[in-house]
Amino acid sequence: MRVLVTGGGGYIGSVAVECLLGAGYDVVVLDNFWRGHQPAVPTGVEKVDCDLRDRDHTIRAVKEAWVDAVLHFAAATLVGESVVQPAEYFEINVVGSHNLLVAMRDAGVSKLVFSSTAAVYGMPETLPITETAPTVPINPYGRSKLMVEQMLEWHAGAYGLRYACPRYFNVAGATEQHGEDHEPETHVIPVALQVLLGKRPHFSVFGTDYPTPDGTAIRDYVHVVDLAEAHILALKRLDETLGPINLGTRDGFSVRQIVAAVERVTRRDLPVEYGPRREGDPPALVADSSKAHRLLGWTPTRSTMDEMVGSAWRWFQAHPHGYQDDGQS
Ligand SMILES: NC(=O)c1ccc[n+]([C@@H]2O[C@H](COP(=O)([O-])OP(=O)(O)OC[C@H]3O[C@@H](n4cnc5c(N)ncnc54)[C@H](O)[C@@H]3O)[C@@H](O)[C@H]2O)c1
Repeated sequence: MRVLVTGGGGYIGSVAVECLLGAGYDVVVLDNFWRGHQPAVPTGVEKVDCDLRDRDHTIRAVKEAWVDAVLHFAAATLVGESVVQPAEYFEINVVGSHNLLVAMRDAGVSKLVFSSTAAVYGMPETLPITETAPTVPINPYGRSKLMVEQMLEWHAGAYGLRYACPRYFNVAGATEQHGEDHEPETHVIPVALQVLLGKRPHFSVFGTDYPTPDGTAIRDYVHVVDLAEAHILALKRLDETLGPINLGTRDGFSVRQIVAAVERVTRRDLPVEYGPRREGDPPALVADSSKAHRLLGWTPTRSTMDEMVGSAWRWFQAHPHGYQDDGQS
């Protein structure tokens, strides 16, 4: 099977490419490398430098790629940025996905796995969150992802698209070749490790008075390789539409637990500054992933905090300047 990976120069997309190649798939990467990295695409993998907002180019690129399926990771992904630049988020995430869907329809490609997010749930009332929980996004990023999910439903009905939209909670960890190199970095684990690399003065904890066992917020983390494997399992099941699928472990980790894991794994002290809660941050977000288990047979095997921190730390030590260390990024 030949698969087009949009956003294959980014964090999760590059790991998905690595796992697809390992599983024997033929891969084509489509990315405009706005926030991705050319060296993240392995030598020998076909690479199309294309902006999904460019409809004609996207239609041409998908047609010429001759693929059987698409994994669609490309997106603008920062919640805070989406609040100050909503137009860009709707353009990249919604218009870009619309162009991709039109291109797939025209090229006769009917299988799609679309990266969605827990942000579609907004502030959930019950935990763990199931796929049937109300979707009430509280920022343009989450809204843009939900809009795409809704577009997929109609494309399935009218054009025979078969799709899955895994909803990720928090993704962490690395492989030997691929890790997290975001600019700006907003994710908790790489931010903590950047403190240890001397790139930030301290690690900020926002809120110590949440109604959680240690007072800090709890989030659900999945190792990026476990996540990529869920996509491959979904690809194999796309003889029918699978719809939204939560990817999490249900056992969240608190910020203090992450700090402890970082110190334990790296054997260093992490300078921490404690501050007030941030507006819009719920105390806990954890997923019910029984649908992923039931439909895909997915069971995360690497998603312990020590494994996620340890693999990320090894990648950061080998790539202190990110992909710049591997050539032009
Ligand atoms: N990282 C997480 O914890 C997380 C959580 C939930 C959902 N997601 C979703 O997973 C996907 C991948 O996230 P990531 O962390 O790897 O992000 P990333 O920023 O590392 O990768 C996104 C990639 O998309 C490319 N891209 C952006 N706009 C494009 C465009 N117009 N045309 C072509 N390519 C474009 C970027 O250059 C980049 O390579 C995203 O859709 C994101 O919304 C990520």
